[in-house]
Amino acid sequence: MNKMFSVNSLLDQFHSSRKYSIDLIADLSPEDCQAQSMEDASPAKWHLAHVSWFYEVMVLKPFEENFQYLNPQFAVLFNSYYNGIGDKHPRKLRGLLTRPSLKEVLDWRRNIENRIESLLNKNASPELKWLIQIGINHEQQHQELLLTDIQHLLYQNSLFPAYSSSEINIHSDHKPMEWIEGISGLVEIGADGDGFHFDNESPQHTVFNQAHSIASDLVTNEQWLSFIEDGGYENSQWWLDAGWAWVKAEQINAPLYWNKNENNQLCRFSLNGNKLLEKSLPVSNISYFEAEAFARWASKRLEGHAGARLPTEFEWESFAKHKANAARDLFGSIWQWTSSNYSAYPGYQPWKGIAGEYNGKFMINQMVLRGSSAYTSPDHSRVSYRNFFPTHARWQMSGLRLAKDGI
Ligand SMILES: [Fe+2]
Repeated sequence: MNKMFSVNSLLDQFHSSRKYSIDLIADLSPEDCQAQSMEDASPAKWHLAHVSWFYEVMVLKPFEENFQYLNPQFAVLFNSYYNGIGDKHPRKLRGLLTRPSLKEVLDWRRNIENRIESLLNKNASPELKWLIQIGINHEQQHQELLLTDIQHLLYQNSLFPAYSSSEINIHSDHKPMEWIEGISGLVEIGADGDGFHFDNESPQHTVFNQAHSIASDLVTNEQWLSFIEDGGYENSQWWLDAGWAWVKAEQINAPLYWNKNENNQLCRFSLNGNKLLEKSLPVSNISYFEAEAFARWASKRLEGHAGARLPTEFEWESFAKHKANAARDLFGSIWQWTSSNYSAYPGYQPWKGIAGEYNGKFMINQMVLRGSSAYTSPDHSRVSYRNFFPTHARWQMSGLRLAKDGI
């Protein structure tokens, strides 16, 4: 199965992932860590507590001798969605948890770290090591969510405060886009079992790709401006019916975080504050509905784009595996929407035990994104990785890379 690490190397990964979470809040105040901007987003304090809760219920409870909760109430407050574990505090009310304080949450984190370390030094069974690997990867996922949630929170402040002055933003190796022949025919999809992967990335299986091409580059802000200027958000012909209903109901007319400053200049708010929109950068913070509408528009209106569409996740994965050198920004800039529903691979088995609720139960009404973003934690990207969000979600670092039928 998965490659197993030595105790020391696992402890190194554990401690560096725990430290990274604390580094992320270095410039935040307790008030910043407390607030919740919407139901989808969680307070930073909640993320810091929840990833500790995960170790407490998934690792310490089954493995620690004479286990006791540090505080049994935390088991309810910081349970995200695990029905098999018990009651949960309502998601939309996470910002009202003024207690425990941030300091108590940080103390709890250190308590968990000491207990995990001594457990691992005492009993390094393969199952324990595997659960700790899940805990590390789980915390890394919440680190990206912490950043996207803080960005959304700070955007609610009329002064548009920056999270950080050091550059944490979308980058691009953008060059003039060209179409590259994709990998057609029978392709192997999924994690090959070497190294950690989530259950939703397996089992490896064979898929047939029709002949297609993939864009060497991501869609840019400049191209998105052309879409807007051509009435993209005002013309139902480009939109899925559910997407058009969403545009109308939410009065959507630009990507999230686009705004005009006092001089009427187009800006984009990021973790580095509100800056003039950089046209050459990849567009980000768009929903699946918007990505799909853009592809439909591009296929009719952009030169050389006839037949443009979103890639399937299998086209994306086989391309990233075999032709990575031919393209730019597959990883580390923005997540890329695919046309694939988030569903189980043939022969899929959820993880055993409580961890079985991690992924499988969400395989409905969501679309797959591939790659990784500028906010993704170090050592948390791979070609088989499947991110997923509902079709209207756009507070994540989500954009698109086009594909088209034929070569
Ligand atoms: Fe979680």
